[in-house]
Amino acid sequence: MFKRVPGTKDILPDEISRWQALEASARDAFALYNYKELRPPLIEEASLFDRSLGASTEIVQKQMFLIHNKDDLYALRPEGTASIVRSYIENNLDKSGKISKLFYLGPMFRLERPQKGRLRQFHHIGCEVIGSSSPGVDIEVISLAESILKAGGIKGYTLKINSLGCPQDKKKLMALLRDALAGKKDSLCEDCRIRYGQNVLRILDCKQEGCRTIVGELGTGAVLCGECAEHFTRVKAGLEALNIPYTYTPVLVRGLDYYTRTVFEFCHGALGAQDAIGAGGRYDNLVAELGGPAAGAAGFAFGVERLLIAAPPEASNSGNKLVFVISLGERAKEEGYNLLAQLRKAGIAADTDYEDKSLKGAM
Ligand code: HAM
Repeated sequence: MFKRVPGTKDILPDEISRWQALEASARDAFALYNYKELRPPLIEEASLFDRSLGASTEIVQKQMFLIHNKDDLYALRPEGTASIVRSYIENNLDKSGKISKLFYLGPMFRLERPQKGRLRQFHHIGCEVIGSSSPGVDIEVISLAESILKAGGIKGYTLKINSLGCPQDKKKLMALLRDALAGKKDSLCEDCRIRYGQNVLRILDCKQEGCRTIVGELGTGAVLCGECAEHFTRVKAGLEALNIPYTYTPVLVRGLDYYTRTVFEFCHGALGAQDAIGAGGRYDNLVAELGGPAAGAAGFAFGVERLLIAAPPEASNSGNKLVFVISLGERAKEEGYNLLAQLRKAGIAADTDYEDKSLKGAM
């Protein structure tokens, strides 16, 4: 008996209509906001993710599905942003002169320890806007994310936001954190002791009780320069104008290195420890870092499996009407097949019983 790989799922026919309904409502929301779909491949050069997500991030260090092929090293994509930016640069999408508003749906792969809401193959519904640093774009992507939640009938979520500032601000924050934590290093968890040297920002969102207490006592506040502070003020004002409730969360730092300025996370109580149903933010330097033009960008991704945990159970399926043709006896069978063909040709869903059952059995 073969079994599926741990952390993967068969999406069975009984469940698929919930997936399709969610995907369809997300596609409608993307169309309303004038986003176009881009479908990059599922495999990329592994170095794309080292360069974009950051060599010291957990995903790159521990969670990549790697494929060795002679001298090349490929990876199953752990997320969509890096692929979309690679594609944007490689296909010269910047030459259109417009900002690119792109969306994607599909599987992502991370070699994690499986648990509720944490899989090795999971699915993203996400988008990226490339070519603008305007706070209006941050507001638009957050508002679009909220529209997708609303269209999916998902209630009871919360939105956390923060600003990490520009790369200089991030560096300042990291230096401050290192100073503040220097005397407390021994009380941090094992992972955070490593993070202290490699990726100190991640200590802020460690889930271990001891680390949370230490972080809580730090009184962290972002150290934003004038321009970044102004940008963040405008993002918050825009959300308020649209009546999108949020909680300013100074410890929200996200696990990927490419973020600058706005970062956000949608959380839901139905999920337990892994409570983020979706997340995103701005990444103004990534396009240039991957060899493209200087282009501000922002986006988000929802985890579809987590959205479906948070979503209400399926509405009744009464929309799916089907004509079932039952022919009695050998001579009627041919006529039954004819009828079946005519119904399908006329656009009416139809099926039959091929097993020569009795009328009662077929019914
Ligand atoms: P992320 O936070 O790594 O961000 O993933 C986004 C969402 O995917 C999470 O909030 C969660 O719902 C879901 N997710 C992540 N890992 C798993 C897993 N192992 N199993 C199930 N669901 C999972 C990104 O990937 C960024 N690319 C988002 C983004 C787009 N930022 C800017 N543009």
